[in-house]
Amino acid sequence: MKLPKFSEHQRHIGIIGHRISHSMSPAMHTASFRKLNLDYDYGVMDVSPDMLPNLIAALRTLNFRGANVTVPYKEAVIPLIDEVSEEAKLIGAVNTIVNNNGRLLGYNTDAHGVYISLAYYAEEIKNSHVVIFGAGGAARATVYAVAKFFSPKRIMIVNRTLEHAKQIVDEFSPKFRLTKFFYTNEHDVTCRELDVASTIINTTSVGMKPLVNFHVLPPGAVIQKEQIVLDIVYNPLETALLRFAAASGARTISGIDMLLGQGAKAFELFTHSEFPMHTAREAVAKELLQKNGNGL
Ligand code: ATR
Repeated sequence: MKLPKFSEHQRHIGIIGHRISHSMSPAMHTASFRKLNLDYDYGVMDVSPDMLPNLIAALRTLNFRGANVTVPYKEAVIPLIDEVSEEAKLIGAVNTIVNNNGRLLGYNTDAHGVYISLAYYAEEIKNSHVVIFGAGGAARATVYAVAKFFSPKRIMIVNRTLEHAKQIVDEFSPKFRLTKFFYTNEHDVTCRELDVASTIINTTSVGMKPLVNFHVLPPGAVIQKEQIVLDIVYNPLETALLRFAAASGARTISGIDMLLGQGAKAFELFTHSEFPMHTAREAVAKELLQKNGNGL
């Protein structure tokens, strides 16, 4: 797919979702535009499902440069736009739309966020076992990124609804030959896999405010020293999973890198400018602090 052209007249960008008052994207992108003196505004477009087609049509006509897309519309926007990147097609979800003079192009930048979060550990993940909790949209981007960029020997998807996990395994198995894919919802299978995993990733919303005392690990599960544990939840930054993992001496990664990583790639698609990472991180920290007294 060709890179979108930049139009001087497209000033508006925003996030499309439903019940998204918690979103950090407005603060993160607005601070970044200001830092680089870019003349964009960034709004929240919280719409009910029946209004989604109208909103997408309005992006073309109302001078929108583009939009981020979040829950619950990352899959629903696909048939409403004009072109979808190969990566987003494979993942099955679009989280960034760029308006290229009336043509809406869809991308998935969540995979880049996962890559950024784990890149430091690439050598350790290669040829190892990875356990991924969840089988929703975030899990799909995570499974894709882990398989594509780190080529582990094995990915085990753990999800309460087995069918959702099976679907991801069926789709991804033929695409990534270096990795073997498995799925389960059984506690003992999960515990055995956790014992031999290099890396454990939570992509579910378990642990997110207000359910901050919960984590996805089955009863009796053990995390070992040196294991790599990523939680894509960023509110709170230190989830119950990360607290438990850190207490065992694991190396923990919070969801902020994923948030900033996906934001960086979306920002660059919108503006063709380099994302001011430091400014964005500070803006997110400030927003988290303001919203619930929980900074970096
Ligand atoms: P997202 O796009 O953020 O990934 P999603 O598509 O709704 O959101 O997926 C959420 C994932 O978290 C799913 O895998 C869901 O499990 P199911 O497939 O069984 O629905 C998982 N999830 C959400 N709440 C959960 C909970 N309380 N316990 C276990 N898994 C949960």
